[in-house]
Amino acid sequence: MLLCVFLCSSAVKAETGREAWLRYPPLSAELKRRYTNMPERISMSSQSPVLEAARSELIRGLSSLLARKIYPDDKAASRAIVLGTVESIKKGALSDLRVPQQIDEYGFWLKSHRLLGAQSILIVGQNDLAVLYGVFDLLSKVSRGEDVSALNEVQSPSAKIRWVDQWDNLDGSIERGYAGRSIFFDVGNVQRDLTRAAEYARLLASIGINGCNINNVNANPRLLENDFLPQIARIADVFRPWGVRLSLSVDLSSPKIIGGLDTFDPLDPKVAAWWHEKADEIYKLIPDFGGFTVKADSEGRVGPASYRRTPADAANVLARALASHGGIVFYRAFVYDHHLDWRDPKADRARAAYDIFHPLDGKFDDNVIIQIKHGPIDFQAREPVSPLFSGMEKTNEAIELQVTQEYTGQQRHLVYLAPMWKELLDFDTNDAKQKEGIATEPQSARRNEESESDERRYVKSLVAGKIFRRPIGGYVAVVNAGIEENWLGHPFAMANLYAYGRLAWNPNLSARRVCQEWARLTFENDPIVVRTVSDIAMNSWRTYENYTGFLGTQTLTDITGSHYGPNIESSEENGWGQWHRADHEGIGMDRSMETGTGYVGQYRPAVAKMYESVATTPDELLLFFHHVLYTRVLHSGKTVIQHVYDSHYEGADEVAEFVREWRTLKGKIDEQRYAEVLRRLQYQQGHATVWRDAICNYFLRLSGIADAKGRSGNFPNRTEAESMRLTGYVPVDVKPWENASGSNAIECRDSNGCSATFQFVGGPEVNEAAAELPHFKKYEIDVEYFDQYNGASRFRVFVSGRKVDEWAADDHFPANKVGGDSSTRRRICGVELRPGDQIRIEGIPDGEEHAGLDYVETLPESDDP
Ligand code: GCU
Repeated sequence: MLLCVFLCSSAVKAETGREAWLRYPPLSAELKRRYTNMPERISMSSQSPVLEAARSELIRGLSSLLARKIYPDDKAASRAIVLGTVESIKKGALSDLRVPQQIDEYGFWLKSHRLLGAQSILIVGQNDLAVLYGVFDLLSKVSRGEDVSALNEVQSPSAKIRWVDQWDNLDGSIERGYAGRSIFFDVGNVQRDLTRAAEYARLLASIGINGCNINNVNANPRLLENDFLPQIARIADVFRPWGVRLSLSVDLSSPKIIGGLDTFDPLDPKVAAWWHEKADEIYKLIPDFGGFTVKADSEGRVGPASYRRTPADAANVLARALASHGGIVFYRAFVYDHHLDWRDPKADRARAAYDIFHPLDGKFDDNVIIQIKHGPIDFQAREPVSPLFSGMEKTNEAIELQVTQEYTGQQRHLVYLAPMWKELLDFDTNDAKQKEGIATEPQSARRNEESESDERRYVKSLVAGKIFRRPIGGYVAVVNAGIEENWLGHPFAMANLYAYGRLAWNPNLSARRVCQEWARLTFENDPIVVRTVSDIAMNSWRTYENYTGFLGTQTLTDITGSHYGPNIESSEENGWGQWHRADHEGIGMDRSMETGTGYVGQYRPAVAKMYESVATTPDELLLFFHHVLYTRVLHSGKTVIQHVYDSHYEGADEVAEFVREWRTLKGKIDEQRYAEVLRRLQYQQGHATVWRDAICNYFLRLSGIADAKGRSGNFPNRTEAESMRLTGYVPVDVKPWENASGSNAIECRDSNGCSATFQFVGGPEVNEAAAELPHFKKYEIDVEYFDQYNGASRFRVFVSGRKVDEWAADDHFPANKVGGDSSTRRRICGVELRPGDQIRIEGIPDGEEHAGLDYVETLPESDDP
């Protein structure tokens, strides 16, 4: 019966998300009418595996969207969609065609064309891959109901390099992956079935991605062994039709570890010869092999420093081995000492990349790219742009972004990252106050507009190599897609992958426009769906920042553990250098030239001037650059401490608003994805409260300054578990203390189960209504409990003896003990309560999980949907 209700409740077919934005659902009758003249035949002016893939995709997409037969017909001269390269298309009937000059190497031209009196569409590219990109673009337009009757549009990618990295391990795990195991590897080998790898390549190609580095940057040398390379070649084979080049992370000690040499000194000729041979061997198996990614002298990885050599020495030895084959070295600028002395006020991890790589500018070969994380630290939710982008004029660069949400909620929190990426890419390294506001739509037969003047050194222009005329450069994102059906776990996480590809193609697009495209392709063309989805997404990054970090402190998460829940002091007093230096008077890292670490001096003069002074540093980065008192008044007019309280309450309230907004979409999108997003948003709402309370309580205690609005440390509807009547349950200290309400939780050590009981007295609103008793009022009961990965405890809730809910704590949060990572919430809706009712929670432990409980909140049920 329940199942029936579930199935009947939605008019829209259930979807898993596996098709992502390539669903091609049949268009509504109204939209379909726009394409009555769409040609039904597809002709190709030449043959290749990539063109074959392009044609099959077009047939698959159009026949599904238009519910019409679309078929190949290479003889069709008119009333056809004609696919071909600039060179091959000008044969036969199209010999007089005037192709626009500006189609560059991977550019394409979409053109409506009257041929022999009938309407045709030409998809023309400089090469086969560009034609494939044109096909995907046409399909996207039709899926979104755009008019294609008068096409005349040239598009070219902003940069040559548009790659993704996967941090997959040979055993099938993925470092910082949040969507299941690897699609490439399992127990030491390449997966036998590479269907998902091929599907992934298709998804990547559809957004213009042209390379994928398949293994963890903390590389296992085994991948390079002779007997293993044929397995890698199988992955390259399934990538090939989609124009995705495969590359590998390499360990610089490979010549020693697997090559049997007594050294891996990059300047030793034996080592150079070894890399040459290895490259030759790889290219025999994988002729379009992309190259190597290198993490060296960083976080325990060995590197050229072992022989007092430089990153240029190491990069060039690999580059020379790859050069004759057209391969590239991605040398990561993520090189730093993680044993810094935290007592030294001049020590600063943020300085490392520039200090190491800036002096080497001009020393790298032309097929080396320095891959630079977007900020100087490590993928934090807010960091300034890395000064290294503007610190190298004779070196190729790529920006490294994270689609995988390592520090931004690990795909359990909805965080659309494109607004952050836009801020970074539009940052003018010559004068940050000059904001890039262009949101160019790539329409009409002209290239994507971009300012390339030397005066405006936008990050997007620098990485594309446009300012200093570099031969190559662009974008790399760590994605870590996994075996889960929908690739990234949270349905909205795919908006980040989509946006990454679209912005790498054209960084002038706006984050909102990209999200709207994604929403149409992923959910529905219904304007209400598109607006709601993009409103939630566009607010989500700022919201996440609001309830986690503040004013550029970087993350306040557990940096030595899961990188997930709050743990403020884990950043302090250790060698990792993610310090925020909070004490009872103030907070922030002084990175000024005058009194601090001097990091500010790594920026170009106008930007350095801005960050040097507290007065001109923007609020959102204040604590990254300066140490200030909690009582300092910000540009916003608030004190720092009041900003801490306000932003965290706002952030948690905003997530509650996301839940309300999402609920308005019930019935408008398929039930499966609707329910999945709702479940995740409700969890996020609870976890945002955990974050809010941890940060506010911590800084309330540290600063001793009260919240002017009286909220922090004051929870009127909350009953702490440790204050309930306990049978079997025992109070435990939670570490760090701010991760549990009242700094304690309770745990059950009796395998038969325990209980915690309290009397419902009602909040102020109940007492007001008390006169009307025994009238019952409906309440939400929120039970804050702990769900670890090492057990699946069970809970039951009773109101005056009547069971109102039961569940198992069987989620897989990244924690094996009670704390901010495992804290989660069960909301029990519509419970009738009256003062005097006994609320009893029973917990039955399982494995190492002791049915931990933090508190219960009872809130009158709102009338919201
Ligand atoms: C982060 C991440 C590591 C990763 C490293 C890198 O520190 O937590 O797992 O290896 O970045 O980018 O190399």
